[in-house]
Amino acid sequence: MYNPRFLSSQMCSSLILDSFCLLVLLCIPAVLTAKCPQQCVCDQIQLTVTCVNKNLTQVPPTVDEITVKLDLRGNDIQELPTGSFKHTPYLTHLSLQRCNIRRVKEGAFRGLGRLVFLNLANNNIDILYQESFDGLSSLKQLMIDRNRVEEIQPGAFTQLGFLNLLSLTHNQLVYIPNLAFQGLQNIKWLRLSHNSLNYLDIEAFAGLFTLTRLSVDHNELQFWMRLTRLDMGYNPMTYLGEEVVSMAKLTHLFLDHMSLQDMANTAVSKCPSLVHLGISHNQLRVIQPFSEGSPNLARLNLAGNPIYCNCYLRPLREWAIRRKVKLMGTCGGPAHLSGENLEAVHPTQLRCQSQEAMLKAEFEEATRVTPRPTAEPENKVKCPANCVCEAETHHSSCENRGHNKVPRGFSPNTRLLDLRGNHFHYIPSNSFPGVTQVVSLHLQRCKIVEVEGGAFSGMKGLIYLYLSENDLSSLSPDAFKGLPQLTYLHLEKNRFANFPKGAFKLVPSLLALHLENNSLTRLEPGIMTGAEGLRALYLTGNAIEHVSPRALEEANDLDTLHLGGNKLKDVPTEALSKTANLRDLRLSGNSIRWVGPNAFQPLENTLKELYLDNMGLEKVSVQCELISLGPGLRSLFLEGNQLEEVPDFHSLTSLEVINLADNPLMCDCPLLPLRMWIEKVNLKVRATCANPPELRGRKVKDVHVFKACPGGESLPAVPTARPPKATNIGNQIQSLSVGSANGLIAGHIYGVSRTDALL
Ligand SMILES: *[C@@H]1O[C@H](CO)[C@@H](O)[C@H](O)[C@H]1NC(C)=O
Ligand SMILES: *[C@@H]1O[C@H](CO)[C@@H](O)[C@H](O)[C@H]1NC(C)=O
Repeated sequence: MYNPRFLSSQMCSSLILDSFCLLVLLCIPAVLTAKCPQQCVCDQIQLTVTCVNKNLTQVPPTVDEITVKLDLRGNDIQELPTGSFKHTPYLTHLSLQRCNIRRVKEGAFRGLGRLVFLNLANNNIDILYQESFDGLSSLKQLMIDRNRVEEIQPGAFTQLGFLNLLSLTHNQLVYIPNLAFQGLQNIKWLRLSHNSLNYLDIEAFAGLFTLTRLSVDHNELQFWMRLTRLDMGYNPMTYLGEEVVSMAKLTHLFLDHMSLQDMANTAVSKCPSLVHLGISHNQLRVIQPFSEGSPNLARLNLAGNPIYCNCYLRPLREWAIRRKVKLMGTCGGPAHLSGENLEAVHPTQLRCQSQEAMLKAEFEEATRVTPRPTAEPENKVKCPANCVCEAETHHSSCENRGHNKVPRGFSPNTRLLDLRGNHFHYIPSNSFPGVTQVVSLHLQRCKIVEVEGGAFSGMKGLIYLYLSENDLSSLSPDAFKGLPQLTYLHLEKNRFANFPKGAFKLVPSLLALHLENNSLTRLEPGIMTGAEGLRALYLTGNAIEHVSPRALEEANDLDTLHLGGNKLKDVPTEALSKTANLRDLRLSGNSIRWVGPNAFQPLENTLKELYLDNMGLEKVSVQCELISLGPGLRSLFLEGNQLEEVPDFHSLTSLEVINLADNPLMCDCPLLPLRMWIEKVNLKVRATCANPPELRGRKVKDVHVFKACPGGESLPAVPTARPPKATNIGNQIQSLSVGSANGLIAGHIYGVSRTDALL
């Protein structure tokens, strides 16, 4: 048999240039077609083989030995025999979801010593045999969710010494035998949610010293069992008795979505480390303050309970203020307090009397203008009046408290400072003395019109600054003086009509700048001056009509540029030519009707994601090479346009996501290249015919017209005369995980709760 790889390697060896030879083999895969099973798509650059939804009844035997990722989802494999993967020893990722697998024989994965990730979800496996996972000595994640596992044989996991995550949710486990998880020396998270467990023996988890998280929600447990975090939600308990949870190390306890109607005030007093107690979505109407015994409790989540905010709740509210426990949830009644945040309700509002009498009392109280009593700290943490400061988490909040000056006197250890929803109007210089360790500062919705120079000076540790939803229209050049670490700056939803050019010279670490939903109309030359290190610029939802060819002149590191929802009429090609590293470009929702030749040429080597959806686009140069989209592109969004024809996508060899939905495609011979391409790739394309009328609503893939076109003879026959669908289908974007542009930006934190998690 002719084997080009074999031949060329012989030729190379004869030149005794082995390493050069290897280079050639890996770099010119298109010329040297390696073996690829017929029904699969093989990517010789990333060494992946994809055979999805092909009804294969066995693991294809001809997969190239050098493959690292093998995706076999959606086949009909039934049984995995011993040594099923012995020809692909370099695999790191193996996906076997939806393969009707009933049985994994002993040693099925033997030889996969490099495998890191194995997904067996959505099969019919019922027993995990003693040697089912033999040989997987590097495996880190094993997913066996949504099978029918009812038995785990002792020793099933003994060889998985590197496993971090074992997920067995949605199975039929009734009990866990002792030592079932023996050998999992590095396990961090064990997920057993959605089974039928009714009893957990302490010995079941014996030896799992590294386990930090166990999820057993949605089971039938009626009893308990040393963990730091326990998810017990969705079990049918109605009452928590005295000292019922006794776990010295437990810090997080989740008892949500159960049927609790009452709990003893000593229920968690044997959990001295407890920081967070979640009892949301139960049937609790009133709760007593907890007895001493959980001195570290910082958060009590009561959301979704019908809490009745009257005098019976007052002891809890007073206790929470005194002990600085953050209460989450709202009042379920009485009517005048219904929906009010528990944190916002002052103890004096918690009364048992008629509403009228109460309103009167409130009015009297308000007119007396007594200073509001401030919480007297027990475990001393400095905290200004009318704010809440948590010693444990170093979070301080004065959110929505009607302050009209930035409060002072926070603890020097404060790391998160939340001042949202006050009425500061302007932030004078030196507004934050003594809080050098704050990482995240929230100033959203504070009606700020001006930030004076040096307003934040001294905040040496500040990384996240949120100034969104204010009334800023300009910024002084030294507004951000003294913020050496500021990385993420949020200025969305302000009143900027001009780019606040020059305000970023003093923030050397800035990576991401948010200016969405302002009123910018133009991007002028030199807007990036001083912000040369910026990686992500978000300008969605402005009114930008013009981008100067020199606007992005110093944006060498810019990786992400969002310009959707503006008023552009053309692709700003010339400006983009200054961005040598752009990977993610979004132009959705502009009025760009035409994308001409070379529109993205400056980005041809870097662009990975391109959003051109909902633009009224009527015409794109017919060859992708012409608009210079090439083999690097991974995602292309073209939905919601006016395209009757589309470019030839054959050159986009790395494409992982494409969306052509909601375009009036004309299903006739000019569209044959698209039809041929669809046949070749394994992607959901969402292309639907709009014309001719008799084909309206039919998938391009399912109409027969193309077979009659010159060159279309090789297309498979289409089952005839299916009734046309009335409407377009599938206009949701398929959200696949696409390699992100940059770890730091991708992990970008938007809200306070996620920031909390980091701090
Ligand atoms: C797989 O089998 C199903 C059911 O027999 C069939 O509908 C489907 O078209 C087959 N798919 C392929 C790619 O052969
Ligand atoms: C901008 O405004 C739109 C429409 O109100 C909204 O959907 C979007 O979330 C906003 N984006 C930001 C970042 O504020």
